[in-house]
Amino acid sequence: MTDIAFLGMGAMGARIATQLLSAGHSLHVWNRTPARCQPLVEQGATAYDSPKQAAEAAEVVIAMVANDEASRQVWLNGETGAMAGLQQGAIALEYSTLTLGWSCELARKMAAHSHPFLAAPVIGSRPQAEAGQLIQLVGGDAATLDAVQSILKNHSAVIHPVGDATASMALKLAINTLFGIQVAALGEVLGLLQKTGMSSEIAISWLNQMPTTSAALKGIGALMANQNYAPLFPINLVEKDFRYAQEFAQSLEANVPVVEAVRQIYQQAQKSGYGADNIAGIAQLYVR
Ligand SMILES: NC(=O)c1ccc[n+]([C@@H]2O[C@H](COP(=O)([O-])OP(=O)(O)OC[C@H]3O[C@@H](n4cnc5c(N)ncnc54)[C@H](OP(=O)(O)O)[C@@H]3O)[C@@H](O)[C@H]2O)c1
Repeated sequence: MTDIAFLGMGAMGARIATQLLSAGHSLHVWNRTPARCQPLVEQGATAYDSPKQAAEAAEVVIAMVANDEASRQVWLNGETGAMAGLQQGAIALEYSTLTLGWSCELARKMAAHSHPFLAAPVIGSRPQAEAGQLIQLVGGDAATLDAVQSILKNHSAVIHPVGDATASMALKLAINTLFGIQVAALGEVLGLLQKTGMSSEIAISWLNQMPTTSAALKGIGALMANQNYAPLFPINLVEKDFRYAQEFAQSLEANVPVVEAVRQIYQQAQKSGYGADNIAGIAQLYVR
């Protein structure tokens, strides 16, 4: 069993950390808001005052935090950052969804200090994290992945080596924007069908029988029909991923008019006060 530091006890981090603890690993946890470590401490984890201190105790260090700014703080903060606490040979893993620019910069900084590093964002939300059924996109070298594969299997049902840190983050942002576009379109057509007098339940039951509705969208349709917008993948994080995808496209001079248009719809949802709601809550812009 391995000494693992887990940095970030948010909705996803706490669930993944629980899986690692259940598998028998020694868990060293840190969170910006310390109280969020308490449930893990009650299950046997040790909490630390800084990412650096947690990293010093570990052979594998995992971060899962909100965004680039948070990731930069967690790894590189001069006083408290985890990178300064990494033991020789310790493996650093970044699970957050980040920009390509920052994930590459982090990979380069780790390489410059000879720390093995993987950018390994996850597909799936809170239920998949709880069930150990995430899909993980791993960017980094094969030997490093081999060394941590058994740890990743505690929370991920499928592990895809996808190249380097750029490839794993590009794929992650592409998948999330593709999903977000479909969810926004579903909200829109649901509102349209409602205008014809069809109930949301009937509309979704029709749409969910059609080959044009993906498996992921069927689950979202059921939530929309029940007006269940309790957060799983909150709109604030969806909008962040669209922003990162748009920046990524701009850096490559790629034409992404649909991403730009749909990002504005998620921004409209934020302005309407739905930012903390699940992605399915985009329907509130359209349905009664
Ligand atoms: N939710 C999903 O379905 C899902 C699925 C796949 C990937 N992701 C990605 O996974 C990451 C975490 O998502 P989540 O749903 O767990 O988010 P969350 O519940 O909002 O948790 C965010 C975490 O980031 C920390 N944080 C925020 N700003 C920080 C800063 N400046 N410095 C240090 N820590 C900071 C928070 O600490 P505090 O507790 O102190 O606020 C918290 O631990 C994101 O990158 C997200 O895009 C999410």
